[in-house]
Amino acid sequence: MRIPDSAIDDVRLASDIVEVISPTVRLKKRGKNYLGLCPFHTEKTPSFTVSAEKQMFHCFGCGTGGNVFTFLMRIDKVPFPEAVRTLAERAGITLPQTGGPDTESVHEPLYTACRRAGMYFYDNLFRSPEGDLALRYFHKRGFSDETIRTFGLGCSLNSWDGLLRFGREEGIEPATLEKAGLVVRRDDGSGFYDRFRGRAMFPILSAAGKTIGFGARKLRDDDPLAKYINSPETPVYDKSRVLYGLSQTKDEIRSAESALLVEGYADLLSLYQAGIRNVVASSGTALTDQQIRLIGRYSRNIVLVYDADSAGSKAMMKGVDLIVAQGFEVRVVSLPQGEDPDSFVRNNGADDFRALADKAMNFLDFKVEQFRAAGLLASPEGQTRAVRSIVRTIATMKDELKRNLYIKHLSETYGIYESVLFRELEKQEGKAAAESKWRPEKASEAEEPVSKTTVASMPPVDRDLLKVMIENGPRIIELVATETSNGDFSTGVGSRVFSFLLERARMEEPWDPAGMVDDIRDDEVRNIVTELLFNKYEISKGWEARDSAPEEVDPELIVTGCLELRQRERLEREIADNQKSLRAASARGEDLKPYLLRHRELLNRKHRTAGAPAGQQ
Ligand code: UTP
Ligand code: MN
Repeated sequence: MRIPDSAIDDVRLASDIVEVISPTVRLKKRGKNYLGLCPFHTEKTPSFTVSAEKQMFHCFGCGTGGNVFTFLMRIDKVPFPEAVRTLAERAGITLPQTGGPDTESVHEPLYTACRRAGMYFYDNLFRSPEGDLALRYFHKRGFSDETIRTFGLGCSLNSWDGLLRFGREEGIEPATLEKAGLVVRRDDGSGFYDRFRGRAMFPILSAAGKTIGFGARKLRDDDPLAKYINSPETPVYDKSRVLYGLSQTKDEIRSAESALLVEGYADLLSLYQAGIRNVVASSGTALTDQQIRLIGRYSRNIVLVYDADSAGSKAMMKGVDLIVAQGFEVRVVSLPQGEDPDSFVRNNGADDFRALADKAMNFLDFKVEQFRAAGLLASPEGQTRAVRSIVRTIATMKDELKRNLYIKHLSETYGIYESVLFRELEKQEGKAAAESKWRPEKASEAEEPVSKTTVASMPPVDRDLLKVMIENGPRIIELVATETSNGDFSTGVGSRVFSFLLERARMEEPWDPAGMVDDIRDDEVRNIVTELLFNKYEISKGWEARDSAPEEVDPELIVTGCLELRQRERLEREIADNQKSLRAASARGEDLKPYLLRHRELLNRKHRTAGAPAGQQ
């Protein structure tokens, strides 16, 4: 099902292009626009321009431009509907569900296998001795029946073929179960066996609520495998892009305007059950940029609550750096030694947990504390190392104001001259800018050849005409259409832009350049349109003498000015051609009269159309 245009417009209007781009590109305010290093090609001096007012971007280096959707499509390499959905989620706009057989993904059998397996594991709880054991285990850990239901907890039978047999009854092929990561092929190739056996099962859902994998905790002391085993990566389960619990908690995260990030399944469930519901869990994998961006769709404030052990602290130090570099706010909660969020909330209750969360430290104080605990602050050398490390983190911040604030804070905390810190910051900034630059995820996709058609390769008259049409809409476009033959553009791309504008003008919709960008299929046309909308090329020729700013000039005057100029240029060409012929005729000793008459006539025409103020000729 197509997303209705009105919904697309809503999403675009609700999104701020500067906010969407700034986690990826370090932007600096320059006049009316923001400027940064282009993520779509390699450059050392910034030519990637973002306009909050126009809600568009354009790179003057590689020519790429567009609106907020174009940006996401390019940077995440996703199709248009997914870009719209991502921003809709972020803005809290509900889009109609897509579905129907034509849009069903090729992964549908895997989703079905995972969903059915989840139901099977859940049902097991109530119909087998194994289930009884698991149920008692969940209750012992304090999970209520409601929590068990909400998160679809379950158990796998202590057998090699429980799920395989279920699959056979349900008509789910073992090969499909294997592809979904639920069964494993025997070494000798003679069939399959269940991956999860005799374990408490935690279904892992995508943000959209589809079951895509499982975490499985051991129930028996004599289970020889790890405490938790998890689904492997599959075509539907990409661990770096999933957060446990998000599909159930995203609305709470949005309304709380912050997300607590914990490590374990049990941590999330206990907090949720205690009524603290703006939580997600990273579940055993090191935090990734994609996970951070996923949280960022719902809230830009992330609070880390990891175990109070050295592994937890180390993980938080890394997590803090990643989150800061993505441009989100991060704070850190310190739990009493030996506790994890699960144990703390069960021992002390939700109010105490909230009190602790309210005292979450900003990342700078957290780092200082960590360095103090490690004994680094005792020596001048250690202190220098600590400061350098913190400044390195600050240098990755894309917001200049924020960087300055944190430098001030650091200066006060340590009693170090701000100027010293700023000098260090400058040193680190160069490095950070180079490192934080977005890289394509697959090396092979790096440096796609950019076919660059830019406004600079057009005659000034053509570009001025296009610009004034884009800025002013149907009335001016129709004027050009009647005064010219299809715009009379001298480049192919110019004609294509004009055709698009004309078609658009005749749709009788409100004129909205940022909106129409979505309907431009031709990359060259889109890039020219965005480039023209950015002010680098001011409308200039022929009227700079009149002492008003270009924007204030009547657009009709610009059009007539452009067309006159074109005509004059054509006459100049004809005069030059005629003079060449005259010289050639003269060299051959021929009669020059026809050429002289023609010259006179052309000059007369030139003076008639010159349009110069009276008295200046
Ligand atoms: P913890 O070891 O802190 O477990 O691992 P926990 O959540 O407190 O577990 P309980 O309370 O004993 O049940 C935190 C997370 O790391 C992952 C799991 O996602 C777990 O929730 N993990 C841990 C694994 O994936 N494998 C393991 O062997 C252990
Ligand atoms: Mn635990």
